[in-house]
Amino acid sequence: MMSTNITWHEGQVTRSERENLLKQKGLTIWFTGLSASGKSTLASVLEQHLLHLGISSYRLDGDNIRFGLNKNLGFGPDDRTENIRRIAEVAKLFADSTTIALTSFISPYKADRDSARKLHEDNGIPFIEVFVDAPLEVVEQRDPKGLYKKAKAGEIKEFTGISSPYEPPTSPELHIQTDKTTIEESVKILVNYLKEKKYIS
Ligand code: PPS
Repeated sequence: MMSTNITWHEGQVTRSERENLLKQKGLTIWFTGLSASGKSTLASVLEQHLLHLGISSYRLDGDNIRFGLNKNLGFGPDDRTENIRRIAEVAKLFADSTTIALTSFISPYKADRDSARKLHEDNGIPFIEVFVDAPLEVVEQRDPKGLYKKAKAGEIKEFTGISSPYEPPTSPELHIQTDKTTIEESVKILVNYLKEKKYIS
């Protein structure tokens, strides 16, 4: 069902006024990759690093969001699409408020990530897609939550990489191979990128 009879309400301040007065640029860093590829770890270390630079960021994490906002969604294709649609909207709001939104969702479908990008770009908000990449053999070996083992035993249906697809990004802003790069190096790559683009100083 669609909402009807609604009217957009403009506030008293524009985003650029907010950014100038708060001296911070809002944007979204969208981490995508297989389960156990390192998305959540990278986002949380980056969050800590940015905070120490005096920059406000906030993590939206796949597992965590599914405890609340998205607790009514499963892992079938339609629910994953709805999961990513909602997160793109929430990230856009955080970024609009001048926070750096750090999203770590498998976000397996290219079309969904492209929609998230479009939503940001149409609103003039930078969208940085980061492919957190590790080969399936490596993530299966890591298996911190024992999910790959369960999926291979048929105890979890539609598990990404095993019985559900992952479509790798074709032109992400950053591609980090977590089997070859340490967490510290990866965070450096991310921070350098933000500095180069003058999103942070
Ligand atoms: S998605 O595909 O973007 O909608 O997934 P996401 O919201 O990021 O949730 C992924 C986390 O849910 C756990 N989990 C599963 N992942 C993939 N497939 C299936 N079937 C599944 N069931 C549960 C798992 O802990 C994922 O967390 P990460 O951090 O990616 O390992």
